Amino acid sequence: MVEVRAQRASTPSVTVRAPAKINAYLGVGRVRDDGFHPLETVYQAVSLYDDVTVTSAEEWSVSTMVEGPHVDLSSVPDDDTNIAIRAGRALVEHHGIERAAAIEISKSIPVAGGMAGGSADAAATLVALDRLWSLGTSDDDLLAIGAELGSDVPFALVGGTATGTGRGEVVTPVEDNGSWWWVVIFNDEGLSTPSVYGAYDLLEEGDHDYRIRPAMLDALRSPGSEGLEVFLYNDLESAAFYLRPDLERAAEAALECGAIMALLSGSGPTMLAHASDADDARLIAGRLAGRGYEQTAVVHGPVAGAHVVAYS
Ligand code: C5P
Repeated sequence: MVEVRAQRASTPSVTVRAPAKINAYLGVGRVRDDGFHPLETVYQAVSLYDDVTVTSAEEWSVSTMVEGPHVDLSSVPDDDTNIAIRAGRALVEHHGIERAAAIEISKSIPVAGGMAGGSADAAATLVALDRLWSLGTSDDDLLAIGAELGSDVPFALVGGTATGTGRGEVVTPVEDNGSWWWVVIFNDEGLSTPSVYGAYDLLEEGDHDYRIRPAMLDALRSPGSEGLEVFLYNDLESAAFYLRPDLERAAEAALECGAIMALLSGSGPTMLAHASDADDARLIAGRLAGRGYEQTAVVHGPVAGAHVVAYS
């Protein structure tokens, strides 16, 4: 027993925390030839996190621990197709080295929830392995490797509040002097991102003006927690509501419970209720629980992107 503990303590590990994202604005254009949609989005990193711990090992492996009843792992692979292992392999390949690691994920961000949980795990794995092996990967290279893994991975690295263009992978930080409060309304059933984009193509023209209004960036720049609500918007909402009418009912319930504004998170099915401050958010969450929406979290943004929280 003592020996085992000594051995564990001598195996270096690094833990990196990566945030969930919301899209305070999501404008979607007509589908491109590569199957992706051009986006203009305002990302915000919020205080709901996955922690990823990496340790050198003979072979790649991943294990996931669930932090809360709103996380359902049934669709998360534990083999080489897991995005965290793909991130690790991509980093190793980038440096032309032969290494492997055991990856442990402690998961609070819902799976297939529209909050970029998989992207957070990929971003956290890249940063954790870079530190564990002292690879000194440049920020630009981490962002490029991240973009290959998924459209939301670069933002999970950067965090804060940022615009996303291209297919979401071109991230530009914006000044955000507010502190924004949200009630995250989780959903039992995942909703696949491609299915929502597919419904969007059928239902919407996709050739409208989907650009971010400059006034939205002004609202983020001004201190305080007011003035954002008029700009909160998600082009995918009608498609998600078409596939899942229960989501529209959740939005209505949030408004009836006092939310300033209710919004689909990314491609859903997680919904967001915008609150004026922390107390207001807790009040709304309490009222929602009384209406049967018990799986919620009160979060705020912006928060930092993937960052080291422990070395051992
Ligand atoms: O990049 P990511 O792996 O997150 O994308 C998952 C899927 O979501 C894509 O295969 C595509 O169907 C859809 N998507 C899209 N346009 C984007 C981002 C994602 O159509 N800008």
